[in-house]
Amino acid sequence: MSEIRKVGVIGAGTMGNGIAHVFARAGFTVRLCEVEQRFLDRGLETIRKNMAREVAKDKLTQAEMDAALGRIKGTLERASLIDCDFMVEAATERFEVKRAIFSELHAILPPDVIMASNTSSISITKLAAQTGRPERVIGMHFFNPVPVMKLVEVIRGLQTSQQTYDTVKTLAEKVGKTPVEVNDAPGFVSNRVLMPLLNEAMYAVMEGVATPEAVDEVFKLGMAHPMGPLTLADFIGLDVCLDIMRVLQDGLGDPKYRPCPLLIRMVDAGWLGRKSGRGFYQYS
Ligand code: CAA
Repeated sequence: MSEIRKVGVIGAGTMGNGIAHVFARAGFTVRLCEVEQRFLDRGLETIRKNMAREVAKDKLTQAEMDAALGRIKGTLERASLIDCDFMVEAATERFEVKRAIFSELHAILPPDVIMASNTSSISITKLAAQTGRPERVIGMHFFNPVPVMKLVEVIRGLQTSQQTYDTVKTLAEKVGKTPVEVNDAPGFVSNRVLMPLLNEAMYAVMEGVATPEAVDEVFKLGMAHPMGPLTLADFIGLDVCLDIMRVLQDGLGDPKYRPCPLLIRMVDAGWLGRKSGRGFYQYS
C-alpha cells in the first residue's frame, strides 16, 4: 500500500474535528466531510479555536497553525474522498448511519484504502462485514478532547488483517498518540469499564447517597481523576452514555449493565449535559 498522506475524516463534530486537528497538525492533508455546511463551519471554527489555544500555550507556532489549517479542506461531497489514502469515520453513533457510510465509501475509495471507525461501542466486526474489504476495516477510538488525550484504542474486528492493524498503529503514533490494542467486544475496554462507573455514580445520586458535587469530589480528591464521574458524563453527553450502556446491556446481557433510570429520565428531558446547557450541572 502507498504511503498515507491524505486522510478523509467523516463528521466534523466533537470527535471528527479533533481527529482532523491532530492529523493536520502532524502534517497530513485532511478532507473533512460533513452533511451540512453549518456543521462543517462549526467544526472548522472549533479547530481554529483549539489550535489558537495551542499557540497561546506555545505548543504550536502561528506559522505551524496556519500551515495545519491550510491542510484541512472541508467538503459536503463524500465522493470527493476518492483520492484519500486513509479514512476515519466519526459520524453519529448509530449502526445504521455508520453502515450506510461504510458501504458508500467502500464504493468510492480505492480497494487498498483502510477504513477506520472512531466508534466508541459499535461492533467493528459487524461494520467490516458491510464492506467488500473487511480485512481493511478497523476501530480507531480517540478520546475527548482529541488534541489533548494521548490514547487511541485500536480495535481489531474478527476480520481485520495484521497489515491493517500495523498501519493504524503506526498512524496513531505519527499523530502523537499511544495506541493500545484491544479486540472487538461491546464497549471495547474503555467504555466497558468507564460507563458502568459513570452509571453507578448516577445510581448513587438517584438513591440519595450523595449529591453530584460530593460524588465528583470523592473521585477527584480520593482517586485523582481529573473530572468526577458526573462532570465527565456531562462532558461526554448523557445521550452518548445511555447509548453505550444499552450496547453493553444488549451485547453482554448481564443485568449489571442496566442503564440508571435517572440517566434515562434526563435524556428524555433533553438534559444531555454540557452540550445542551444542563445535565448533572448547569452550564451557561
Ligand atoms: N484542544 C487543545 N487543547 C486543549 C483542549 C482542546 N480541545 N482542551 C484542553 N486543552 C489543553 C489546555 O490548553 C491545557 O493545556 P496546558 O496543560 O498546556 O495548560 C490542558 O489541555 C488542560 O486544559 P485546562 O487547563 O483548560 O483544563 P483542565 O486542566 O481542567 O483539563 C481536561 C481539561 C483535559 C478535559 C481534563 O479535565 C481531563 O483530562 N478530563 C477527563 C477527560 C476524559 O476522561 N476524556 C475521555 C472521555 S471518554 C471519551 O472520549 C471516549 C468515549 O468513547 C466516551
